[in-house]
Amino acid sequence: MLIDKEKFPKVALPEMNEIHDTEIDVLNNLYDTLKKYEKGEASEDDVTKLLDEFIKDVREHFKFEQGLMEEYNFFAYPMHRGEHDRVLMEILELKKEWERKKDAKLLIDYLENHFVPWIINHVQTMDTVTAMYLSNFLK
Ligand SMILES: [Fe+2]
Ligand SMILES: [Fe+2]
Repeated sequence: MLIDKEKFPKVALPEMNEIHDTEIDVLNNLYDTLKKYEKGEASEDDVTKLLDEFIKDVREHFKFEQGLMEEYNFFAYPMHRGEHDRVLMEILELKKEWERKKDAKLLIDYLENHFVPWIINHVQTMDTVTAMYLSNFLK
């Protein structure tokens, strides 16, 4: 397990919390499979499948938030969108690296030292402000 769902920050919009919960499940699954791959207990295909699932989930997560921000004219939309785009690019780059090198350490390092600190900070800052704004319209 990479992230403990119970300790993950919550925002003012239940729909966003649900999406974050799903993402943590997908992420933990990918992480556990990478650890197994390192021990020879999972295949390259297993990792590739879960990495693709993670990418799909991240895209959906970001798209959902962006859709609401656009619909309700959130003032900091370009800034929030910019962060999503930047991280999605990083993850797509990581996928290319995986295809090239099949190096589980690289992925584990990215998830532990970049993605996790990023998502926690992102949810505590941009997502929190966004959810607070949106909850005025959606409650
Ligand atoms: Fe989010
Ligand atoms: Fe976000």
